[in-house]
Amino acid sequence: MGRYYVTTPIYYVNAEPHAGSAYTTVYADALARYHRLIGDKTFFLTGTDEHGQNILKVANEKGLNPQDFVDQMAQKFKDTWKFMHISNDDFIRTTEPRHEKVVQLTIEIMYEKGDIYLGTYQGWYCSKCETYYGENELENGNCPIHKTPVEFVSEESYFFKWSKYQNLLVELYTNNPEFVVPTTRLNEIKSFVERGLKDISVTRTSVPWGIPVPFDAKHTVYVWYDALVNYISALGYTGSGEKMEFWPGVHLIGKDILRHHAALWPAMLMSLELPVPKRVVAHGWWLVSGQKMSKSVGNIFSPQDLVTHIENAVGLTEEIAVDALRYFMLAAGPQKDDADLSLEALWTTYNADLANDYGNLLHRVLGFMKKKGIDSAPKMTGQRYSRVAAVVEDCLNKYHAAYEKEDVQSALSSAMDLVKFLNDFQDKEKPWTLSGDELTEFLYSVLEAYRIATTMLSPAIPSASQLVAHTLRTQLSLAFGQCSGFNPDLTQPPLFPRYREDKQGDTIRSGSSGGEDKGEAKEQVNETNSGQGPSLAEVKPVVDYETFSKLDLRIALVESAERVPKSDKLIKLSVDLGPLGKRTIVAGIGLKYEPEDLVGRRIVVVTNLQPRKLMGVLSEGMLLAATGEDGLPNLLAVDGEPAPGTRIK
Ligand code: MSP
Repeated sequence: MGRYYVTTPIYYVNAEPHAGSAYTTVYADALARYHRLIGDKTFFLTGTDEHGQNILKVANEKGLNPQDFVDQMAQKFKDTWKFMHISNDDFIRTTEPRHEKVVQLTIEIMYEKGDIYLGTYQGWYCSKCETYYGENELENGNCPIHKTPVEFVSEESYFFKWSKYQNLLVELYTNNPEFVVPTTRLNEIKSFVERGLKDISVTRTSVPWGIPVPFDAKHTVYVWYDALVNYISALGYTGSGEKMEFWPGVHLIGKDILRHHAALWPAMLMSLELPVPKRVVAHGWWLVSGQKMSKSVGNIFSPQDLVTHIENAVGLTEEIAVDALRYFMLAAGPQKDDADLSLEALWTTYNADLANDYGNLLHRVLGFMKKKGIDSAPKMTGQRYSRVAAVVEDCLNKYHAAYEKEDVQSALSSAMDLVKFLNDFQDKEKPWTLSGDELTEFLYSVLEAYRIATTMLSPAIPSASQLVAHTLRTQLSLAFGQCSGFNPDLTQPPLFPRYREDKQGDTIRSGSSGGEDKGEAKEQVNETNSGQGPSLAEVKPVVDYETFSKLDLRIALVESAERVPKSDKLIKLSVDLGPLGKRTIVAGIGLKYEPEDLVGRRIVVVTNLQPRKLMGVLSEGMLLAATGEDGLPNLLAVDGEPAPGTRIK
């Protein structure tokens, strides 16, 4: 039995948890669950980073005492991780005395050793990433990460002799090519260190919200120094040379904080004469419409919103919807390169892997048993069993090798390879042509391999895998052939029902006159009238008021209306928009409204959308409507009689 220690970054509490922080946390959770599964003594740490100028600023803006503010926010992280079924063994907060005391201890040890000295700091500081940058690192004078202005800071400060460790760090990267993965990140950090390290300021006199420096009360500890120490303060570092049970560990981080973890932290550990981390795994970013998803950009998806969307779209329970999100994140997330966070991407992965391959396989086998009146499959070995066993072994070897490298994406692929093989196996073996022992051997082999595949997936989808174990009336394990037989519950509905695109758009498309109008008609009608199915409109990132105010929403008075030829749904309206003049609007509301019902009504219109042709008619605006349970549109009603063209805000 081995030991495994895995950490996430500790998250700043100035923003609520979102799909970005959830990604790293779910990723670490899968690693921890895998190591527990194979019997390793495992310790999984996450937590919150609660000091620093930025947090103090947000607390002040909210009129809260900083401790009250961080208490509230830390609780939100704890709640979100519970919601996402995160199995962390500890949650460290940098304002806890157990952490503060270790930070003070480490800085004292390094000071006494001569690795920390007093100097003057002058340089460019980005308060959003709480990081100093050299002049040459700025992009047009802005922070290279946030693209916002940096401030010039000059103050008395204690410095850590980072430069002293430059050669040792280069040696570390050279001798340990897997110290940082993926390799591109190792190369990046190696060349950063080779370009030359400057000693780094690790205290501030201007930030009261921090841990006091024990040997100089005017100073508080720099937030990054403070934060990095969490990885050992949570293990109860005492400075006495006593070994910490779980150290060294694997740090999972986003690529934005590579330098801190792969160059600064190992140097601090070298100074403390502690082993360097086992590995730093740096993943990419979730992008939303091509931009990093982040609070400062204002394009955030919350895990809760995504789960609610999944629950509603395919009728899953919250538990299983959480697993669907976890699976999507792990299988299609930014493990190596940046990845697109969109509902299209989510449903593509969901349908391909969870619904069509994994969920459907069980449904097919159990459906077959039910139809044939077979309620059990005792263990039966033979040539079919051996063939399946060989594939299971091969997939398991790849699975373990992938997890050894923290490569969850490849580990999931090897589980899905087994599932795909079993689907093919079923097609080729044609169980309806088998009977007696042959059929029993087939059913046992497939269900037993399915049990293994489910166990392989269990670190990613812990609740769904337990549900499958329950359906199969068995226990999960990775030992093929261990189960003595199956007596499954044949009444369970499909585990992951298929997500189906909105049907309404398709009907419009087939009824349209042809040419390039087809797709456009679908899109426009979906926007105004999203049909019965879930649509993209259900979960959208938060936007600031400025973004919202870019829409020009106005009251329009309908002057005339007529049906668009050859379409059941489209109605062409002529509307009065007061100062904006008269406009033509084509709307997909014809299944519910007759043209004559509309004349004289006040409706709500978005006037500054790009005009579009719908079945040959140019639409110069979009009216707003809400789809009812019957799938039909309901126009928004306007109270009173505001003048045509009145702005809506
Ligand atoms: N507090 C520091 C970390 C200190 S660790 C000793 C910090 N916090 S943070 O709240 O900004 O979180 C950073 C981490 O959140 C990233 O490294 C990454 O793991 C995750 N993510 C934040 N936004 C993300 C995306 N858009 N995409 C993927 N992960 C992202 O930096």
